[in-house]
Amino acid sequence: MRKMIIDTDTASDDAVAIMMALMDPDVDVVALTVVAGNVNLKQASINARYTVELCGKTTPVYEGAAVPLLREAYHAEFFHGSDGMGEMHYPAPKRPAETKHAVEALIEHIEANPGIILVTLGPMTNVALAVAQAPHIVKNVSRCVVMGGAACVVGNITPAAEFNIWCDPEAARVCFRSGLPIEMVGWELCRGEANILEEEMRYYKEEINTPLSHFTIDCNASALKTNQEWLSDPGIGLPDPVTMAIALDPAICTKSSKHQVEIECEGTFTRGMTVVDQLNVTVHDTANVGMWKAVNADGSPHITVCWEIDIPGWKALLEKSVRTAV
Ligand code: BDR
Ligand code: CA
Repeated sequence: MRKMIIDTDTASDDAVAIMMALMDPDVDVVALTVVAGNVNLKQASINARYTVELCGKTTPVYEGAAVPLLREAYHAEFFHGSDGMGEMHYPAPKRPAETKHAVEALIEHIEANPGIILVTLGPMTNVALAVAQAPHIVKNVSRCVVMGGAACVVGNITPAAEFNIWCDPEAARVCFRSGLPIEMVGWELCRGEANILEEEMRYYKEEINTPLSHFTIDCNASALKTNQEWLSDPGIGLPDPVTMAIALDPAICTKSSKHQVEIECEGTFTRGMTVVDQLNVTVHDTANVGMWKAVNADGSPHITVCWEIDIPGWKALLEKSVRTAV
């Protein structure tokens, strides 16, 4: 069984991603660590625990950072609804959160499970604190699959930046420079045809008609509306589930390459931009090259950037999850 740990600012698309991992028989999710982002920390924790219980599991949920490293907290209820779950206001979960802090839990679970897969679905505050406190843990992570950024395209929270990275750019910078084997899944990969479209929503509710198929569509009601009205996208965009699909089945990412990637923390209009050296110009002796310090000893780039996905493959994986009996 592959071991996995998921760091999440649990709102609607996080919840679907968590459900996919929990329902995969080949994956053992050892813990969920929660961070503030889409909603405040307590609400994210409630949403994470509700999702665990809906899936019939007892996965421990640890609460972590309530604010970014240096910035003020900013939440996205405008996108996910006041409860982060499309105004569904699901019943309160029965189990409490663990008493241990999420950062401590990340360190302990990663130390105890060499080769573990780390999936990050929110601002990277908890993970940055963990690798700063215990830098040795990066060697135990076989893959760090990150929902974050926008590779050489536009952002969603600002024209330059994607939400998770924008919320806590300093934390993302720490993580991207830490040596974690990051696979960056930008928000652009969940757009257009990768959306869950009108006919698919109907199919989920009327034909598949399982508790998990209803949950997938219902909790994303606010996200659907905002996605259509703000971003002019056709259906429900699911960045965290697309990321989870790649974490569960790397073949879902059909085109990737390694690059230097830096996070913009100083820019006035570019806060949180993921600056991807797509043409690998920083390996040449050009202007500003000294600023681009490689993590790898041989100077080679170490961030894997995902450029394309297998859209039918990702949708098939989601469908398989919601059909799995709880
Ligand atoms: C990311 O931000 C949140 O709205 C989603 O949960 C996802 O993690 C997309 O930019
Ligand atoms: Ca998220």
